[in-house]
Amino acid sequence: MQPRNSTRDTIAVGLGVCVICSLLVSTAAVYLKPKQEANKRLDIQKNILVAAGLLESGASIDPAKVEELFARIETKVLDLTTGQFTDEYTPAEFDADAIESDPATSIRLTAEQDLAAIRRRANFRLVYMLHEGPELKRLILPLHGKGLWSTMYGFLALEGDLNTIASLAFYQHGETPGLGGEIDNPLWKAHWAGKQVFEPGEWEEPKIEVIKGSVDPESANAEYQVDGLSGATLTSRGVTHTLEFWLGQDGYGPFLETLRGGEQNG
Ligand SMILES: Cc1cc2nc3c(=O)[nH]c(=O)nc-3n(C[C@H](O)[C@H](O)[C@H](O)COP(=O)(O)O)c2cc1C
Repeated sequence: MQPRNSTRDTIAVGLGVCVICSLLVSTAAVYLKPKQEANKRLDIQKNILVAAGLLESGASIDPAKVEELFARIETKVLDLTTGQFTDEYTPAEFDADAIESDPATSIRLTAEQDLAAIRRRANFRLVYMLHEGPELKRLILPLHGKGLWSTMYGFLALEGDLNTIASLAFYQHGETPGLGGEIDNPLWKAHWAGKQVFEPGEWEEPKIEVIKGSVDPESANAEYQVDGLSGATLTSRGVTHTLEFWLGQDGYGPFLETLRGGEQNG
């Protein structure tokens, strides 16, 4: 008879444990995926509601209430190239990642174009609007761009005049807590409200920027400037470049032009 701690038994037990564990992990991953997707979707919806001014940041809220509030937001699929809404996709079936990675539905940005350091730009994006009666109250634009360590994903909310910033918030990034991670700090985020994106008439090039140091309220450019994050100039610069890209001609520029001209379709 073989001793119980033979090499063969040890290997068999090890393999058995591996197979059982991998089965458990893969079953859990498959089982939990829909729940994870639903949570992700809920989180995005909450961020959009905060950007729309319909929900307080950090407020705890029932998922059913999120759905109810979100029904007030109009979600549209935008063709970035034409600056017009499109029926090519419905918001429900819209898969931003798939569209961005498919060369047929995205463009590769040249070094000169790629201010936000994102390499590819999808040709279509979801945008969100809050109306009060017929009037556009908030326009919520998703944007992303490179900070120092990571791609930062957020929402810029513009007032109905399409020039005044209501808020800028990043919901996902990997910047260093206490340094670049201060983009999450409510005190810093508060600096954005009321700032202007464009100098009137100069609609081609956004003027808004995060500067190094503090904004001088007496400066002629104060309304286009936000305080830099101390010790995090590179993340701050990433935020400026992200805005510069998404509000420029390769981003939402053509769409903003359409809205300004009042000739938006749909
Ligand atoms: C461990 C570590 C983490 C850092 N994280 C960030 C960061 O998230 N964002 C950032 O802009 N700078 C970060 N920095 C600092 C940058 O290297 C750089 O010094 C800084 O952006 C310059 O900003 P300042 O001119 O305001 O000092 C980090 C530095 C170290 C050592």
